Amino acid sequence: MDILGISGSLRAASFNTALLRAAQELAPAGMRIATHRLHELPLFDQDVEEQGDPPPVVALKDAIDAADALLLACPEYNGGISGVLKNAIDWASRAGRDRAKSPLAGKLVCIVGASPGITGTVRAQDALRLVLRRAGARTEPQGEVLVFQAHTKIADGKLADERTRDALARHLQAFADRVAASRG
Ligand code: FNR
Repeated sequence: MDILGISGSLRAASFNTALLRAAQELAPAGMRIATHRLHELPLFDQDVEEQGDPPPVVALKDAIDAADALLLACPEYNGGISGVLKNAIDWASRAGRDRAKSPLAGKLVCIVGASPGITGTVRAQDALRLVLRRAGARTEPQGEVLVFQAHTKIADGKLADERTRDALARHLQAFADRVAASRG
C-alpha cells in the first residue's frame, strides 16, 4: 500500500513535517509512506494552467495519481488550513489541460495535524475536510490525530510523546484498513 504524505508547512523545523516522519516510522506492516515537498509549487494561476501545468504541478499530480491514498499533515493558520496546502489542493483538484480528471477524485485522504496551541489544528482539519470533499476526495478514518502543545511533544524534529505515537499508530492502522477495504 503506497501512501503519499504531504506537509502543509514549508519550514525546516515544522511540527507537521515531523508528524509525517513519525507516521513513516509508525506505519503498519505493508504501508509505505513517501513524502512530496511543496516548496517548488507555484501559486495557482488559471492563466498558467491554461498553458499547461508547470513541471512542479505535473510532479504533484503524478505523485497523487500513483499513490493508493494520501496522508496530509495540516498546520492551522488563523483557524484555517495553510495557504501552502490550499494552493496544492487547488492545483490538484483540477484535471488541467492534459488529464481526464483531477487526481483527487475519489482519493482516500487521512488528515493529521500539530500545533503549539491547545486545540491541535481541529479547526483547520475540519476546514480541510470540507475542501477535500468539494474536490471529490474522501477523508478516512473516523477520529482525529490532534497534536496539541506540539512543542512539548516534538523535539529535534522527532515525535517523542508515547501516547501521541500510540494514537498516530492506531489512526494509521485504521486508515490502512479503510484503504484495503476500498481496494476490495
Ligand atoms: C499560527 N499558528 C496557529 N496555531 C493554531 O493552533 N491556531 C491558529 O489559528 C494559528 N494561527 C497562526 C497563524 C499564522 C499566520 C502563523 C504563522 C501561525 C501557530 C502555528 O500552529 C505554528 O506556527 C505551527 O508551528 C505551524 O506549523 P508547523 O510549521 O510547525 O508545521
